[in-house]
Amino acid sequence: AQAPVKVTVTGAAGQIGYALLFRIASGQLLGPDKPVRLSLLEIPQAVRAAEGTAMELDDCAFPLLAGIDITDDPRLAFDGVNVALLVGARPRTKGMERGDLLEANGGIFGPQGEAINAGAADDVRVLVVGNPANTNALIAQSHAPDVPAERFTAMTRLDHNRAISQLANKLKAPVSSVKKMTIWGNHSATQYPDIFHAEVDGTNAAAAVDDEAWVRDQFIPTVAKRGAAIIEARGASSAASAANAAIDHVHDWVNGTPAGDWTSVALPSDGSYGVPEGLISSFPVVSQDGRWEIVQGLEINQFSRERIDASVAELVEEREAVRKLGLI
Ligand code: NAI
Repeated sequence: AQAPVKVTVTGAAGQIGYALLFRIASGQLLGPDKPVRLSLLEIPQAVRAAEGTAMELDDCAFPLLAGIDITDDPRLAFDGVNVALLVGARPRTKGMERGDLLEANGGIFGPQGEAINAGAADDVRVLVVGNPANTNALIAQSHAPDVPAERFTAMTRLDHNRAISQLANKLKAPVSSVKKMTIWGNHSATQYPDIFHAEVDGTNAAAAVDDEAWVRDQFIPTVAKRGAAIIEARGASSAASAANAAIDHVHDWVNGTPAGDWTSVALPSDGSYGVPEGLISSFPVVSQDGRWEIVQGLEINQFSRERIDASVAELVEEREAVRKLGLI
């Protein structure tokens, strides 16, 4: 039989964790023929809740689930890890300054990066979901010098999927007809969802929409502020859709993106499109042989350039801030 893939989920007792673990165990993360061993990392106060979730996982009798370990020790959680989903993070609470937020998360993602560096499997792939995702990924990556930098990614797939849905809705087209959507920059309100290269049923999406005011005043803000709209409506932040995006991200990384399409991933820049090298910024990417490749050669118009630059500038600022705090 195949050796199980070790998947570590941090923040396992949180709401995204609850929406994510059952889908991983059912085979949706890696594929229907790959057994998984789950490792759940939580803070001590939430270990008991994670144990409860593990009881429910047992009760599903998933054929692909080879075992579950629960711990509050990052070294144990990441020992031999193949896929690391870093979901647990310190949320911004009322009155908290940005510096405090970055510092609190540095205290989480620094040690987790070190533990990945010390114990992860050679093929480890890391997805950071916990916010501020891009900069948390940068902190973790900077603490893992022995792991290729490209293995550290942050999630903009939820933004990508939201953008596809909004565009399909506008054009009254099925979501499956939308290809080549792009999210650029930071997973934050400055992100830039770009439809200039997107296609709907094979025709250019921007041309099909033919309404720059809609793109500027409706589409972009709706996608960028969707998280806040969900909180407003649901009384809690996006969980199932975030878990779904994490599943999509890792599934594509491992199994490849479909021919004729691409997706969006925040990964260390190689300098493409004027994004400073090493900055973890979202790009259009394809996955081939288990690696992300940034889609090259897209023409960037003035409208897009300004928005990409603004989001990248925010990431540069975040990087400066964590540098000053000694977190990277
Ligand atoms: P939650 O508050 O329900 O759960 C977070 C869990 O993380 C808690 O159980 C907490 O005990 C745990 N945790 C905190 N510090 C930890 C540590 N050092 N090690 C292990 N576990 C730790 O939050 P939820 O809703 O599950 O969201 C998780 C994160 O995902 C948040 O930062 C949220 O902002 C972010 N998010 C990111 C999205 C994206 O598109 N990138 C979309 C939606 C949420």
